[in-house]
Amino acid sequence: MFGWLNTKKVPKADDQIRQNVENFVNPKAVLEKFTAITGIHFNQKESITASKLIYFCRNNHIFSFDELYRCLENDNEILEGLINVLTVNETYFFREARQINFLVDKVVSRKEKVRILCAPGSSGEEPYSIAIALLDRGVSALKIEIVSLDINSEVTLLAREGHYTARSLHKTTQELQEKYFIKEENTLRVRDDVKRLVTFHTINIFDERLFELGKFDMIFSRNMLIYFDEPTVAKAVERLGRLSRTKESLLFFGHADFVKTPVALVEHYDDGIKFYTIV
Ligand SMILES: C[S@@+](CC[C@H](N)C(=O)[O-])C[C@H]1O[C@@H](n2cnc3c(N)ncnc32)[C@H](O)[C@@H]1O
Repeated sequence: MFGWLNTKKVPKADDQIRQNVENFVNPKAVLEKFTAITGIHFNQKESITASKLIYFCRNNHIFSFDELYRCLENDNEILEGLINVLTVNETYFFREARQINFLVDKVVSRKEKVRILCAPGSSGEEPYSIAIALLDRGVSALKIEIVSLDINSEVTLLAREGHYTARSLHKTTQELQEKYFIKEENTLRVRDDVKRLVTFHTINIFDERLFELGKFDMIFSRNMLIYFDEPTVAKAVERLGRLSRTKESLLFFGHADFVKTPVALVEHYDDGIKFYTIV
């Protein structure tokens, strides 16, 4: 776990850390604090997480877990940096194409403008997939507004830039790539008319700023609740539910996001797709 302490070329801060290895023995309080802020639980992965914490401390000249704990209480930059290191942002275009097609059908059947929330949107693949699927079905851009949020500020910046590599695009057809992306050196860039449909925000769903986003007709929340424990899932779902514009607003989750339907939701099935409305 302390392998990096043996490296020959070490930055200055390491000298102090070297003398204080015992200051990095128990990350429990730091992890509990992080969980209280973000909802993210580490379950069995605590030793991997501890290594990441030590590495983070080394890069930020923090000399003990106690000091890191204090920083999480009063240093927003450190908190933001740690969130960017500890969140898992795995995503790709059309990760759940059937759910997206179902959402598109629902939008097509409505006359009014539709507000769609992606919480979380990570580096943009999911909200852009929704935008592309809607445009490709002939839905007018005037009828679409997509809002994406994520707690990680780095992925929010990547999403705004909209450059993607083959790794993100493996489930996207050649035809869609040619229609909605512009080829650049090593990446494909999302076309501006797709970008204009989506706004990206760095927001923690447990922050009151969530409610400044307004109300939505469709809410996509995939693969975030898997990192929370059951009471936190219930709290998150209740907050997302409060963003429903009406009782007809639809909520979509990932297959592994919860086992038991949270009390704030009513479950529905249509055409093999599970979706929810608020109670
Ligand atoms: C695995 S990604 C899922 C992205 C996308 N929805 C998908 O399914 O492909 C999970 C995302 O949840 C975000 N996240 C975790 N806790 C969060 C919180 N409390 N508020 C907002 N976003 C959060 C992480 O930063 C990460 O980008």
